[in-house]
Amino acid sequence: MSSTGRTNISQHPSSRCSNRMFWRQWFAYQEDLLTFSLLIWSGREIHVSSSSAPLRFAKDIPSTNTHQATEAREHQHFPLHGILGFKMAREICASIPPVGLGTFRLKHDAVKPVLRDAIRLGYRHIDTAAIYRNEAEIGEVIQEFYASDEYNIAREDLWITSKLSPYDMATPRNALLKSLAALQTPYLDLYLIHWPAMARKPASSPENKRLRLEAWRVLNEARKQGLVRHIGVSNFTVEHLRELSETEWGIKDAFVQMEIHPWYWRDAAEIQTVFEGHNLSMVGYALLAEGKLMADDCPELIEDIAQRTSLTKVQVVLSWARKRGWAILVKSENETHLRQNLDIPEVMDTLTADDISAIDEISLGGEEKRCWDPRLVKWSA
Ligand SMILES: NC(=O)c1ccc[n+]([C@@H]2O[C@H](COP(=O)([O-])OP(=O)(O)OC[C@H]3O[C@@H](n4cnc5c(N)ncnc54)[C@H](OP(=O)(O)O)[C@@H]3O)[C@@H](O)[C@H]2O)c1
Repeated sequence: MSSTGRTNISQHPSSRCSNRMFWRQWFAYQEDLLTFSLLIWSGREIHVSSSSAPLRFAKDIPSTNTHQATEAREHQHFPLHGILGFKMAREICASIPPVGLGTFRLKHDAVKPVLRDAIRLGYRHIDTAAIYRNEAEIGEVIQEFYASDEYNIAREDLWITSKLSPYDMATPRNALLKSLAALQTPYLDLYLIHWPAMARKPASSPENKRLRLEAWRVLNEARKQGLVRHIGVSNFTVEHLRELSETEWGIKDAFVQMEIHPWYWRDAAEIQTVFEGHNLSMVGYALLAEGKLMADDCPELIEDIAQRTSLTKVQVVLSWARKRGWAILVKSENETHLRQNLDIPEVMDTLTADDISAIDEISLGGEEKRCWDPRLVKWSA
């Protein structure tokens, strides 16, 4: 400062720079400022550091405040050149891993060895539900991996889906909090309404619609609060989905999990057509039609494609589902099968467009739904 109290321009650091250097720095400064403003304007979280020391990774942020931790975990910083000395957070575009480990019928401790094998092999997508009665055991196995240096796995590396039990339809928020506690996680990647009706209520009861809509409101609130990253439904028909689409929350970007296999897939396709523009993500389960695919009545067509492509029959069907754009859930207690299923994204292009169309046509011989049927649940009050 000069004796007049004004900055003496000749002592200003920029005066030591050549003109070119000054303008280069000035533009870098403007660039940082612009990015900073854009991020604030778009509501992105920004970690500002007063020094050039690297920022903590989001996973290092303690989870004392669930919401804050959740937000932080969705972001990973990246270094930004420039002269301000702060670094900005970038949201990771974490889409659902295309192959998920199914855990239905792996109750309590039975899930542990399967999940350990699966994570070691590279599975990062775990599908559970309150009614599978294995959330606590899944939570324990995941903690083992966090604690192990060998795999370097943190919460944000995993995609965990759980579901609101039909028994808990009247208390959705409590049910979600219980699932979070059992899984020892501050947030779920995906939370689904498991079934469009309340357990022990007649499928024809108009009360089911009220419960579905209320549960959908609660799930939307939970997403806003950061307790879940994505929400959706399972076993909903077009009509059940239409009810939700007409609420103030709508169904944009929702996930739909449903039975899908060569004998029953047209309802899934219809949902996608009817709600085109809502950006729904479809996840298939029971892709092996509860074992029918492995039985003697497996269509010759699938056997032929398997022989020609040197894939297994299961890989042919899983590849067909992936080629149709659906994420897939498969359960296996066999390590070789776990590997084969995880490899689907690498082998699925072995199938030709003609193979896909031919498999599509299998259901023309008669649709066969194998699991519970939501079409029996009344949709209009
Ligand atoms: N939202 C819902 O209402 C709902 C309903 C049902 C299921 N699901 C979810 O979807 C998951 C998958 O469905 P799921 O468990 O019913 O049955 P699935 O995955 O369709 O079939 C499991 C059976 O397929 C066999 N298998 C798996 N991979 C194989 C391979 N590569 N080769 C040969 N056999 C193979 C398994 O035997 P091995 O152990 O011998 O491999 C097991 O017997 C469930 O675990 C659950 O997470 C959701």
